[in-house]
Amino acid sequence: MNMKREKEWESKIEELLSKMSTEEKIGQICQLYLTEKSAPQVAELAEKGLVGSVVLTGTAFAGNSTGTDIDRDAMTTVQNAALRSPSGIPILFGKDVIHGYRTIFPIPLAQAATFDAELVKEAASRMAAEASRSGIQWTYAPMLDLARDARWGRIIESFGEDPYLASVMARASVEGIQGDDMSADDKIVACAKHFVGYGAAEGGRDYNKSEITDYTLRNMYLPAFRTAVDAGIQTFMNNFGDIGGEPCVFSKYLFRDILRDEWGFDGFVVSDWGSIANQTGKGTAETKREAAMRAFRAGIDMEMVSRCYYENMQELLDSGDITTEMLDDAVRNILRVKLRAGLFEKPCLNLGELDIYREDDMAFSKKIAEKCMVLLKNDGNVLPLPRDKKIFVTGTYAYERRSILGNWCPGATDEKVNPFVDCMKEVFGKEQIMSTDVYEIGYQYARQADYAVVAVGENWRETGEGNSMARIELSERELELVKTVRRVARKVVVVVFAGRPLALSELLPHADAILYAWHPGTRGTDAAASILAGDASPEGRLPVSMLRSTGQIPTYYNHPLAQYHYREYRDELPTPLYPFGYGLSYTEFSYGEPTLDVESLSLSELMAGKTVKVKVALKNTGDRDGVETVQVYVRDRFAYKSRPDIELKGYQKVSVEKGGETVVEITLGKNAFGYYPEKDFVIETGDFDILVGPHSEELKSVAFNVKKG
Ligand code: BGC
Repeated sequence: MNMKREKEWESKIEELLSKMSTEEKIGQICQLYLTEKSAPQVAELAEKGLVGSVVLTGTAFAGNSTGTDIDRDAMTTVQNAALRSPSGIPILFGKDVIHGYRTIFPIPLAQAATFDAELVKEAASRMAAEASRSGIQWTYAPMLDLARDARWGRIIESFGEDPYLASVMARASVEGIQGDDMSADDKIVACAKHFVGYGAAEGGRDYNKSEITDYTLRNMYLPAFRTAVDAGIQTFMNNFGDIGGEPCVFSKYLFRDILRDEWGFDGFVVSDWGSIANQTGKGTAETKREAAMRAFRAGIDMEMVSRCYYENMQELLDSGDITTEMLDDAVRNILRVKLRAGLFEKPCLNLGELDIYREDDMAFSKKIAEKCMVLLKNDGNVLPLPRDKKIFVTGTYAYERRSILGNWCPGATDEKVNPFVDCMKEVFGKEQIMSTDVYEIGYQYARQADYAVVAVGENWRETGEGNSMARIELSERELELVKTVRRVARKVVVVVFAGRPLALSELLPHADAILYAWHPGTRGTDAAASILAGDASPEGRLPVSMLRSTGQIPTYYNHPLAQYHYREYRDELPTPLYPFGYGLSYTEFSYGEPTLDVESLSLSELMAGKTVKVKVALKNTGDRDGVETVQVYVRDRFAYKSRPDIELKGYQKVSVEKGGETVVEITLGKNAFGYYPEKDFVIETGDFDILVGPHSEELKSVAFNVKKG
């Protein structure tokens, strides 16, 4: 942080505030949506200084639209109007740029599967640059909702079920979007959403209430958000829903006590779309005035789209229900972010020639897609496929292109996606690939070919906002296709293009190999083909447990005493089909016994920053070079509160040549051993296990002790 600039900005804020009328201050806390139709009205208000920000979409379900564009002329008109207003404060233009703007990268859940913070940071940075080149200054990303329920359509936007991994990805994402300096040409403002607990919506139903105890909140749901604040994130957005009966948008506890007082956040908070006004419909506020008062008191600085603040703030000030100091504070928060983002110097960021779909972004789209795909099964090393054999390619997603991008990419076009069947031809050579012109089963080919590759999955509209599913099993239709092919084909390779972690037990017996490709983005089909050919090796690891059936929800690995080891169903196995952290590679690895550089540290040593180094020998025992993700988990053997059986606390990706051996060293500090029994972080002295291995169900352990003193 540049203290000199910060100081200058603070005095600029005071200078502006001293000149602004109350009406203009109220304008700053209001956000409108901008479309071609709304533009004249928005411009009229902007000219009076009554618009703080604009969201560049005309619908609350922006993720479900496709091929919609921002109106750059309208943006220019509106911004120029704002600059002519009495205080001349520029408008901040926001839009959901979630996993790419034009060039699409894998959905965030898939990005988490890379277990590679550098890659995730680069993806965030490239998408910010592309968005910025189009004039977007603020994105509503990253979504940091911990997700344990694959029915929830928005699980695709999350970094999975683990707070540690989600925190690593949160930092990468914020640093990628905002960079060190948000005012740089290729950086934009990030927004941590949805604070908090949206991912815990009951039954995976969108916008549902959640029940989260403070204990679970602090240990599971808050860490990624906290990390985002530490990484310098500038804005927050609320969860639409309630926790334990309290609407999050009215929660002083969340937005003032935790976010501001405990964490020291000094950016601004925007409400989610209409979520203040919605409270009247939900029966949690009788009037919009009451909704405005409660949300504002709770610390929601800016209202997205609904007009509760605009219509009621003056009266709330007159009646003393809101004080001028409170209003000034909210305006300060907003101006601070605008200043940091460089808006006063460059109000219309990069509204020049559109410069999109850069070659290097496209190449990166393929690279990150290759790294996120998870090889779930590979019986008899059927993969990679030989290049001199006949391969039959079929399946809905061998042809369909839009779903490959996934939900939340309204600005992208699927014309840039190469159908998977074409990618297979490109990689293996036309002569090797048997396929029909349009999608049909093609029994004849299935019989003749040496291998059948079936691309199944789920449609992008079955994922994302408002698109929860009651069943997470692969659909009957997709399953039937694989079974039909299986009856006649020699070997069956299934590639799954999906957003959520689908339940694949029924598929398992019918596939020799399964590559989980997620909704991988613009170059995702090219990436899948190159993995099948062995040009790239699969490296992805599951950021969520992959369940056997819907009825197992919620099953997650970081549960007290591994829930599935002691709580069985009569009609279902207790374990997930594939555990958290799981993923195969084209080679094999063997792990030695883990050792520690110190067997014990005292509490004060740990708190003072001393660390313990975990070492493990790793051998590539297969016949190909490969990359392994060495994972370190910690178990607190005895604690005052019931603790997760194990928790991920570190990992390292290492590449090892075939036959090679290396020693991996991972450092654990105080965060690995403590938790929040209540408000404060505590390390309980006593015995711990440190566990090392390829995934959460295959671990070797070594004892560690935290001494008193
Ligand atoms: C979503 C947010 C999104 C906003 C603006 C809402 O419906 O919940 O995640 O940022 O719309 O598009």
